[in-house]
Amino acid sequence: MRFTVAIDGPAAAGKGTIGRALAARFGFAHLDTGLLYRAVGALGGDPVAAARGLRAADLARDDLRSLAAGQAASVVAVIPEVRAALVAFQRRFARAEGGAVLDGRDIGTVICPEAEVKLYVTASAEVRAHRRWLEVGGDAARVLAEVVERDTRDMGRAEAPLRAAVDAVVIDTSELPIEAAVAAAVALVEARL
Ligand code: DC
Repeated sequence: MRFTVAIDGPAAAGKGTIGRALAARFGFAHLDTGLLYRAVGALGGDPVAAARGLRAADLARDDLRSLAAGQAASVVAVIPEVRAALVAFQRRFARAEGGAVLDGRDIGTVICPEAEVKLYVTASAEVRAHRRWLEVGGDAARVLAEVVERDTRDMGRAEAPLRAAVDAVVIDTSELPIEAAVAAAVALVEARL
């Protein structure tokens, strides 16, 4: 069976939590596509060469979750050749036998427009920055500024900008508990299966 769940949205909206929960519930494979861009940013050097030569071991680095790695990922993600180098792997993953959940910024719009379920998970910048701050600490105003900067870059770039696919179901987690967001996503997948 081929069945793809595409989850897009800005940083810290809850995409990863929902994606992992759906994968566990339905036995689907899960790919956090942000990790690909984070690994390219963290490798340094020529980002296009890094994207073309990316290996599984590069995704296992333990420094990919930091705010700095997120910013570096957002910067390299603007480069069309970097994105192009990562497309085939993501498409294969999305359509592999057994079902797949991918979360990112362009899954429902570019990587897998044919996905059976498309979700756009979002929340206000303030709520998302507060969640990030609880994880990383430091200066709360700086965390909010970084969230807004990253949103602006991810939404404003020419190539595959972050936006909801026209047929995506929007889940706003600003005030919705994460369990309720997961339950809504599970119901949508069940209805489509
Ligand atoms: O989801 P994340 O925070 O790990 O993503 C890090 C950055 O990578 C994000 O700010 C933009 C980029 N990205 C992208 O351009 N396309 C994706 N499908 C996933 C991430």
